[in-house]
Amino acid sequence: MLSLDCITAGYTDENIINEVSLQVNEGEMVTIIGPNGCGKSTLMKTIFGLTRMRGGTIQFKGRDITGMRPDQLVQRGLSYVPQERNVFPALTVKENLEMGGIALTGDIEERISLVLELFPTLAGRMDQRAGTLSGGEQKMLAVGRAMIISPSMLLLDEPSAALSPKVMSQLFSEIKEINERGVTILMVEQNARRALAISDRGYIMEMGRNRLEGPAKSLLDNPEICRLYLGKISKNI
Ligand SMILES: Nc1ncnc2c1ncn2[C@@H]1O[C@H](COP(=O)(O)OP(=O)(O)OP(=O)(O)O)[C@@H](O)[C@H]1O
Ligand SMILES: [Mg+2]
Repeated sequence: MLSLDCITAGYTDENIINEVSLQVNEGEMVTIIGPNGCGKSTLMKTIFGLTRMRGGTIQFKGRDITGMRPDQLVQRGLSYVPQERNVFPALTVKENLEMGGIALTGDIEERISLVLELFPTLAGRMDQRAGTLSGGEQKMLAVGRAMIISPSMLLLDEPSAALSPKVMSQLFSEIKEINERGVTILMVEQNARRALAISDRGYIMEMGRNRLEGPAKSLLDNPEICRLYLGKISKNI
């Protein structure tokens, strides 16, 4: 579904991502973990055509998408939820969902009903301004907005950040359900254990480079990886 081959990219002359390679197969859920500032968000932005790429190629559904703009990628079925500023706070929930479908030609109402099926909490809040939603509701709206185009693949950058354990669990189960309905997912997560527990495979990044990759279960079972990257086991996880 998605294949990154030796990607080098950044924002200015400095390279933040160096020769990163990664694959996501159709139907898979894959998580990227790594320390703060190692370039996870930059990698996601690079896939979605938002940084300066200096080397490497990106393929999506067997086609070369290197250098394509976000609107061209959306047309091809790739959707992206940024880590921050991922809803329009002054617009209502309904308007946010409509914005997600701005490139659609078909019936937006039908798409909105399908998204509300996934996130029923939003259904009762359609006229509320997004900026007044709770943190968890805003995350649901951001993912819901990305789902409006019926993507074949979703890029999710830290969907669970700043959520309480209970709301995080709910959001993770909704994300898993989206994946089980056939949407391929590439996700960046700080809550590495929880994310790997619902993923097929994982990648660990360090200082803008590939560090390790493997089946999610084998990463979770590796004591060295747990010590270095997964932190302590808390009763909430
Ligand atoms: N728009 C930008 N312009 C210039 N440098 C940037 C920009 N965005 C990020 N950076 C730099 O790129 C590096 C990697 O940042 P990035 O946001 O990709 O890290 P991250 O792994 O997502 O971190 P976190 O876990 O904290 O979200 C950092 O040194 C950051 O300062
Ligand atoms: Mg980030």
